[in-house]
Amino acid sequence: MLKGERVGLRARHEDDIPVLRAELYDDVVNSSRAEGQPWRPITPGSKDPRLVVDDTVQGHVPFSVVELAGGTLIGTATLWGIDTHHRSAHIGLGLLPDARGKGYGTDIVATLCHYGFTVRGLHRLQIETLADNTAMLRSAERNGFVREGVLRSSAWVLGEFLDEVVLGLLAEDWKRHGTAQAAARA
Ligand SMILES: CC(C)(COP(=O)(O)OP(=O)(O)OC[C@H]1O[C@@H](n2cnc3c(N)ncnc32)[C@H](O)[C@@H]1OP(=O)(O)O)[C@@H](O)C(=O)NCCC(=O)NCCS
Repeated sequence: MLKGERVGLRARHEDDIPVLRAELYDDVVNSSRAEGQPWRPITPGSKDPRLVVDDTVQGHVPFSVVELAGGTLIGTATLWGIDTHHRSAHIGLGLLPDARGKGYGTDIVATLCHYGFTVRGLHRLQIETLADNTAMLRSAERNGFVREGVLRSSAWVLGEFLDEVVLGLLAEDWKRHGTAQAAARA
């Protein structure tokens, strides 16, 4: 298991699946905003890759996220689009409703950065999010991600086009950011 300050990123367990389906993917508004594809219901028992992990798929690493204290499931985190030539990948995360706004998002992004940069040796990580998703933007920026561009009206979300923001973080900037944070805590 990967450990952040308060979160753990571990493999998907069978018991996680009904909780994630009910609390994340059955939520039409959250799914429509977070997933970049039209919402449709997931049939119980389906092998939908958002729920059932295929360990043989190389470019996509999904985690279940738990509270380190107690092990309660609080959401999902994914390193996806892993490109071993350009040494880049994308980050995605989704917290169960009760777990939002408690600082976990920032901790999960930090833990995914450790996985991407240190464990996988990547050079660049990227996040795409809706321009009005303040919690996601802040979780990224607190870890050193910088806004690199706005994709105007790029996302069709429940009846309107919304802007998306692209954020990027390079390995060397992440190391500097980590050093600066450690100095600030000292
Ligand atoms: C986006 C998400 C992962 C962020 O995680 P989180 O744990 O809720 O965020 P945090 O508690 O770490 O908050 C990070 C910052 O955002 C702020 N914030 C949190 N929720 C907020 C909200 N609803 N509105 C405005 N600001 C908010 C916090 O105050 C904090 O700001 P600070 O850094 O200035 O202190 C989580 O809210 C979530 O899963 N949302 C639904 C799914 C989603 O949007 N996924 C991302 C798709 S790209």
